Amino acid sequence: MDPSDQKERRVDREDQQAVDEMRARCFSPALVTAAPWEGFCFAGHEIRITEAVDCFGAVVWPSALVLCYFLETNAKQYNIVDKNVIEIGAGTGLVSIVATLLGARVTATDLPELLGNLQYNISRNTKMKCKHLPQVKELSWGVALDTNFPRSSNNFDYILAADVVYAHPFLEELLITFDHLCKDTTIILWVMQFRLEKENKFVDRFKELFDLEEISRFPSLNIKLYKAMKKNRRSA
Ligand SMILES: C[S@@+](CC[C@H](N)C(=O)[O-])C[C@H]1O[C@@H](n2cnc3c(N)ncnc32)[C@H](O)[C@@H]1O
Repeated sequence: MDPSDQKERRVDREDQQAVDEMRARCFSPALVTAAPWEGFCFAGHEIRITEAVDCFGAVVWPSALVLCYFLETNAKQYNIVDKNVIEIGAGTGLVSIVATLLGARVTATDLPELLGNLQYNISRNTKMKCKHLPQVKELSWGVALDTNFPRSSNNFDYILAADVVYAHPFLEELLITFDHLCKDTTIILWVMQFRLEKENKFVDRFKELFDLEEISRFPSLNIKLYKAMKKNRRSA
């Protein structure tokens, strides 16, 4: 078999195995409950996420599962214990919860209308279980960044982002936000589900500002996991 076929088969096998393992981390309530939730097992905890139906950020997207799985299974190489971590477009908060349970100092951010449910899920799943209490803050991409996240006080070791690129009109603002939050040493872990041509174009645009490395791919989900760092940085 030619080496490229072999590689493709290996990627497919690993993809299937990882996706099966991720699915095994999800569960639903055994009984119908008054307040519905979805369950997930990560970082040695059962996590209960309340979803809503009225906006994009109100459900857990497959990219979030990929990022949680990655953080847990690569905890040695990407050690986030005591690290300053910000999540953008946190949605229901699953990724921020897992990062918190793994020991990071987390700031979970999203649009104002998402913050109530985000705060609820984060408090419910991290109270008395975490080393550092996570924060929830509004961050509308490109808006009031200098006021709410002044560059001089941004000190993030990691920026986490799951499924923040899709057909919305704020892609340039999203790029500005990544750039604004990033120091020379900040590592971006970004999971992207490819659906439309627009997303490929964003990756090209992103590469103008950041060094981008694909570190994992899940072809069956059309998802790639990237690591990125600022271009032309003074230290890495
Ligand atoms: C597809 S959802 C992904 C949610 C979560 N990361 C996940 O993977 O489950 C996209 C997220 O980006 C947020 N978002 C969209 N436009 C935004 C903007 N202009 N500023 C800040 N957040 C935004 C949404 O509110 C939503 O939480």
